Amino acid sequence: MELPFAESYRIKMVEPIRRSTRAEREQWIKEARYNLFNLKSEYVFVDLLTDSGTGAMSDRQWSEMILGDESYAGASSFHKFMNAVRDITGLEYVLPAHQGRAAENVLFSVLVKEGDIIPGNSHFDTTKGHIEYRKAKAVDCTIDEAFDTTLIHPFKGNVDIAKLEKVLKEHGNKVPFIILTITCNSSGGQPVSIENMKAVRKLADKYGKKLIMDSARFAENAYFIKLREEGYQFKTIREIAREMFSFADALTMSAKKDAIVNIGGFIAMRDKELFCSSCVFEIMYEGFIHYGGLAGRDLNAIAQGLYEGTEFDYLETRVKQVELLGNRLLDYGIPIQQPIGGHAVFVDAKRFLPHVRKEEFVAQTLAIQLYIEAGVRGVEIGTLLADRDPVTRENRYPELELMRLAIPRRVYTNNHMELVAAALKNIWDRRDTIKHGYRVVREAPIMRHFTVELEKI
Ligand SMILES: Cc1ncc(COP(=O)(O)O)c(C=O)c1O
Repeated sequence: MELPFAESYRIKMVEPIRRSTRAEREQWIKEARYNLFNLKSEYVFVDLLTDSGTGAMSDRQWSEMILGDESYAGASSFHKFMNAVRDITGLEYVLPAHQGRAAENVLFSVLVKEGDIIPGNSHFDTTKGHIEYRKAKAVDCTIDEAFDTTLIHPFKGNVDIAKLEKVLKEHGNKVPFIILTITCNSSGGQPVSIENMKAVRKLADKYGKKLIMDSARFAENAYFIKLREEGYQFKTIREIAREMFSFADALTMSAKKDAIVNIGGFIAMRDKELFCSSCVFEIMYEGFIHYGGLAGRDLNAIAQGLYEGTEFDYLETRVKQVELLGNRLLDYGIPIQQPIGGHAVFVDAKRFLPHVRKEEFVAQTLAIQLYIEAGVRGVEIGTLLADRDPVTRENRYPELELMRLAIPRRVYTNNHMELVAAALKNIWDRRDTIKHGYRVVREAPIMRHFTVELEKI
């Protein structure tokens, strides 16, 4: 008999979570003004809001926390962290930051100015936010296949090289760099192939542009390359990661994802000049260049986490759990983005709730239904997140209207995944009765989804 797949860790410490009643959840979500970010976490049974900073650190990471050196400058923790980043990425100059968007803030303060155009593959919302805040523009050059959730393509995070070249040809003088997000969160946790990275690098060289990688889930990207790209089957995750980063001039990293820590991030760069310019903003926004908004213990945990996060067995356990949830939903006939992404399952809300008008926030409506059904918290990756156009202030309706179920690393068991799938199946079975969504009562001028207030239509 073939042995079933089992997790490559065992559990040493547990955290109780509480079930609630439907009536309680209906009340709580109303009080939260139908924004899932406003819910107290104790009102949530299975929290799939994000995989960011929500992972379980290992015993080795916790022991590294005790060893943290809290010196302001020259701490051994900084050196341990810097050496790990250099070792994993191959990039020489390293600056810590308190999370991914802080790394973006520091680097973009040097590189982005008003009127610039920054092409990439479905920029993450904070990346786009930092670009638009500087009155520059993010241009999405993702391949069209990414926007058809039914289409199976091994690398839906890929850049469309023709689209990218068109931007570079037309606006070359306004482009400070190209950004590649690996894996691409906004298109469904989809990877970018080495072949595509090479092609983007070639164009960057042709037009004399930098290539920056938003690397939050670089290890999951490397895992998919190993499984799906010819010639990489026998390479280790770390060898593949090194090759990926060999095409980059710099990277930003949210360590809250693939470095499996609760807080942290960094920038790594090849060029000393860029590093020196970044240090100025680092000191202004994040702190001295040896800690960047983090404690020494956090730097130690990142260093250890970078090694654990790039182990094949760990990644296999992780991605297979995401696949388990996705495959169960497919068994029930529920429409999801395929292939299943690395960190999350993305439910196609437009196909799930065809009766709800796009003006009434389809994916948000589905996420609220799921919370009421079983206390499961997902997140809208759709019209609320796409935000309003900075010039016209009108809603932008993205091609994909998704509800993301992001799975924290090493936190939930497969039984939790079965519960989530069953809850969605119940909603699926009564989907024809869901005809209306929500309207906005209050919204922030930028990145509104975090704080938006809604009312039921
Ligand atoms: C692809 C990507 N880039 C950047 C960020 C921002 O990182 P942080 O949340 O640590 O600021 C995220 C966070 O989810 C992300 O998914």
